[in-house]
Amino acid sequence: MTAAAPASDPTIPPADAPILMFDSGVGGLSVLAKLRQVLPQAPVIYVADNAGLPYGTKTEAQIAARVSGLLGRLTERLRPRLVCIACNTASTIALASVREVLEVPIVGTVPAIKPAAAMTRTGVIGLLGTQATIRQGYVDRLEAEFAADKRLLRHGAPELVAAAEAQLRGHAVDPAVFAAAAQALREQPGGAQIDTVVLACTHFPLVEAELGKAFGPGVRFIDGSDGIARRIAFLTQGQEFARRVPDLALFTRLDDAVAELAPTLAAHGLGQVGKA
Ligand code: DGL
Repeated sequence: MTAAAPASDPTIPPADAPILMFDSGVGGLSVLAKLRQVLPQAPVIYVADNAGLPYGTKTEAQIAARVSGLLGRLTERLRPRLVCIACNTASTIALASVREVLEVPIVGTVPAIKPAAAMTRTGVIGLLGTQATIRQGYVDRLEAEFAADKRLLRHGAPELVAAAEAQLRGHAVDPAVFAAAAQALREQPGGAQIDTVVLACTHFPLVEAELGKAFGPGVRFIDGSDGIARRIAFLTQGQEFARRVPDLALFTRLDDAVAELAPTLAAHGLGQVGKA
């Protein structure tokens, strides 16, 4: 009589199970770049809901419906070991409801107000996000918890999302776009004292150098990507990783604008492109 093979433990993911990174567009690549530094061996599937881009100008109901619908369908199909919502807009609106329905661990993107409060010397922090993110109660709660004794000035900058999308496709972007975002924060009461700016949209670290020029010396930027990469490494500690196929980038709409991204995707280790 032959002994039955031991049942595999369903809580241990197979070595080739991917980490699924999700954003409306290319913004999540700023998070993927940090994840690569921490877990270079991890197989990744990057998903961009470019048919829904931009999220930041949509309503809460529209964003919540898209994000939960897509992530539900994609986790069924791709069986990731973990999902990272590499998008502040989607996370601040839909993270709790997505966590309620999906069984896979989910890491969200939280505006880096806590580290910004520790960094600022003047006590005045700027926050750049999408219009949808900056009006969230989630941001109010972070401000109350971590920056109650600071001044937090917010600005919704959808044009920076478009600028990052264009720049990563190799298009020239008018520097006036970055100057306008800096000016919108500077001209608020106390804005001249801003010494720390939270990049509360994953697209914005992709244009940090341009924002640095627009704000001038003396301003430091902070975003959530280091914390997210560390959190993913912690949650996958002890798991095995084996990349058996090239990492994949999936888009909800395949068009010429996706084709233009090929060099950027390859530079982020995403060697295959497909339809989400
Ligand atoms: N990258 C997304 C974020 O972090 C938003 C971009 C968009 O408006 O779709 O908020």
